[in-house]
Amino acid sequence: MLAISSEDISRVVSRKEVADAVEQAMLTIESGDYIMPNRMHLHSGNDTMLIMPCISKGMISTKLVSVFPNNRDKGLPSLYGTLILNDGKTGEPLAIMNGATITALRTGAVGGVGVRHLAKKDAKALLVIGTGVQGRNLALSACLERKFQKVFTYDINFENAITFSKELQKELMGIDVVAVKSVNQGLLEADVVITATTSETPVLPLDKKLMENKCFIGIGSFKPNTRELPEELLSLTDTIFVDTPFAASECGDLAIPLASKILTNEKIVTIGKLINKAHQVKSPTRVFKSVGVALFDLFTANLIYQKALESGAGKPINL
Ligand SMILES: NC(=O)c1ccc[n+]([C@@H]2O[C@H](COP(=O)([O-])OP(=O)(O)OC[C@H]3O[C@@H](n4cnc5c(N)ncnc54)[C@H](O)[C@@H]3O)[C@@H](O)[C@H]2O)c1
Repeated sequence: MLAISSEDISRVVSRKEVADAVEQAMLTIESGDYIMPNRMHLHSGNDTMLIMPCISKGMISTKLVSVFPNNRDKGLPSLYGTLILNDGKTGEPLAIMNGATITALRTGAVGGVGVRHLAKKDAKALLVIGTGVQGRNLALSACLERKFQKVFTYDINFENAITFSKELQKELMGIDVVAVKSVNQGLLEADVVITATTSETPVLPLDKKLMENKCFIGIGSFKPNTRELPEELLSLTDTIFVDTPFAASECGDLAIPLASKILTNEKIVTIGKLINKAHQVKSPTRVFKSVGVALFDLFTANLIYQKALESGAGKPINL
């Protein structure tokens, strides 16, 4: 069995490879060639433990993720994770991997694939709302998909946005990274908007004019009481793309307007149907909501495992 650390993962795979693997996973959701129960949520107050098993591609992956939003106040990451990969034919455990790094890489890639298929080709400015771990990965993956000249960053904690922007600037040569004091300031110029916060209320304005003709990627909300996208945004488009059908019941972004009948299920379509051209979007305002799916972890972990075997990365361990 191989122990594959965060450093090993960053060494053996590129963001582009992970985006391509996630795109294949989105297509696999359409073909149905997988076994994946709804993930289990264990809630304790604001804290959540997620258990995410999946079978596909001759592999079994199980990811355990903790999301403890108040960890930031303790100087700790809000998300920890561990992923175990088993052989699908024998059940043999093949690898144990850093699940937080897999989550961050594949979540960035999910947003990147959203930008790949939904953002206008000449998009010049990106706004990232929520400058945490996912925000960084989403910004880096999005910048592989379009030639952004500017990245605006906004966080409820402005100091976070400033520190984040300085760090991100080192990784994004030739792109201006600017922390803004209000969402509206970033929205005025942004073509693509990514939300990656732990907010329980919409992080976007209710003013439709400010949101028209842009591409929105919602990442943060994953519980019925968490929300980033206002109903005003959902009304600007003919299709709300999701990564998985269970997004509709899992996140407040969709579950709340569905419950109040402001949104109907007919408008919600999996993004794989856009990629395989089974569905076309007409509205210039684009919305993609991701809650994260175990199948993305499996495709990413399998890629990492194969590349680790090829390059000799990872540490053999006996349990
Ligand atoms: N869709 C997915 O696949 C997926 C995967 C991983 C994490 N997530 C979710 O994404 C969210 C962010 O995760 P993270 O690991 O980056 O967390 P994080 O704690 O590292 O960062 C969250 C950031 O959001 C900011 N924030 C909170 N409320 C805000 C608001 N109202 N407006 C602006 N900024 C606000 C915080 O100050 C913080 O900087 C979490 O809710 C997490 O559960 C989703």
